[in-house]
Amino acid sequence: MFEVELVLPLKKKKKHAEMGFYFSTETWTLLVAFITLAVVYVCWPFATFKKMGVPGPTPIPFLGTMLAYKKGFTVFDENCFKKYGKTWGIFDGRQPVLCITDPAMIKTVLIKECYSLFTNRRNFRLNGELYDAVSIAEDDQWRRIRSVLSPSFTSGRLKEMFSIMKHHSANLLGSMKKKADKDEPLEMKEFFGPYSMDVVTSTAFSVDIDSLNNPSDPFVTNIKKMLKFDLFNPVFLIIGLSDHEILSQAMIFLFAGYETSSSSLSFLAYNLAMNPHIMKRLQEEVDSTFPNKGPVEYQALMEMEYLDGVINESLRLYPIAPRLERVAKATVEINGLVIPKDMVVMVPTWTLHRDPDLWPEPEENCIGMRFALVMMRLALVEILQRYSFSVCKETEIPLEMDIQGLLMPKRPIQLKLEARS
Ligand code: HEM
Ligand SMILES: *[C@@H]1O[C@H](CO)[C@@H](O)[C@H](O)[C@H]1NC(C)=O
Repeated sequence: MFEVELVLPLKKKKKHAEMGFYFSTETWTLLVAFITLAVVYVCWPFATFKKMGVPGPTPIPFLGTMLAYKKGFTVFDENCFKKYGKTWGIFDGRQPVLCITDPAMIKTVLIKECYSLFTNRRNFRLNGELYDAVSIAEDDQWRRIRSVLSPSFTSGRLKEMFSIMKHHSANLLGSMKKKADKDEPLEMKEFFGPYSMDVVTSTAFSVDIDSLNNPSDPFVTNIKKMLKFDLFNPVFLIIGLSDHEILSQAMIFLFAGYETSSSSLSFLAYNLAMNPHIMKRLQEEVDSTFPNKGPVEYQALMEMEYLDGVINESLRLYPIAPRLERVAKATVEINGLVIPKDMVVMVPTWTLHRDPDLWPEPEENCIGMRFALVMMRLALVEILQRYSFSVCKETEIPLEMDIQGLLMPKRPIQLKLEARS
């Protein structure tokens, strides 16, 4: 102590002379107190999981356990599952995130207590103008918007949209044929991307942008047309929403529908190319449902059972959203575990779908799933009527995944299309 006091004034004077400022002892005390308080503040929640008796990786100040994300969510979730078992806790900064893989618990969170306790996703407050989109709105507003949108996805409405979809699937086959005839490998996303874009914009916006025949990036080239869309004439039923709400839903449908459907179709094509015996059996179902490459009809398409299984399996192996999340609105006890208010509860879909002991499929509340299934089935069946997918030297096996955000391959999936005799 003495030494410090003796040395400090000397140093201080020097610094003062050199740099024009110095900290008094009081300032130092305040600074130390402030830093201590800040560390206490950021570390305060770190006791949460210990109190709950939930295991998990040790967090560090400010970052929590986020350093482990550098290899991606899926790798981190899988490692935690192996290490800690069914339930574990992590920290996104100081936000505790409870990770659950027990089917009964998942069912309680995602379904049984959806309206009462686990209505909302985490709010990152980065949503800007889209604050009233159905995927972002909370509580009563979400419920109102969701119930206005839901009738857009009944079989009756989907059947009406089917003829629009068929127009775009015909374009899809036309553009695939050009490449296939030249025996060149096809980059799947180059075809399924514009197809999904066209289907979603023509139904949600009533705008036919025909991005398939537009070789450059559909987002950039068509944004002008999309901004001109008719607010009062989309195919989707939206009576009861304000203009701003309508616009937000249309935008979110585009974001939520474009990437998901086109990536899922690309993964499907890859899985079929990798499993020719499955594809052959699917083509048998295609041929018996629509003999002589006959026109694809809605009802029969939706009743194809093997196709249903193939799509389910591909979505299991490549779940576009590798995590689902809900926030606890109040403290609640589930299966003996007390979950405090404001805790984020997370379902690591990717990990769950690959757990050999149990892979129940959690009911995902994607509002567009039935819509997506119609457009994916349509595209697949029409392609498989005429072609087989095959791997070629350009195909990357196995696929290396991109580690951020939505699940997608690091490099585009390339396959060949072989005409069926
Ligand atoms: C194969 C294609 C698709 C996949 C794999 C997919 C997957 C998902 C998943 C996993 C969620 C989150 C569910 C949850 O948190 O419980 C979701 C939500 C959502 N999806 Fe999809 N989706 C697809 C296609 C679509 C399409 C075509 C649309 C629009 C037309 C759409 C619109 C939405 C919306 C609006 C939400 C939020 C719903 C809400 O919060 O109430 N999705 N989707
Ligand atoms: C595919 O998944 C859906 C939704 O979970 C389910 O209702 C359906 O029975 C599954 N189909 C097959 C063939 O397993």
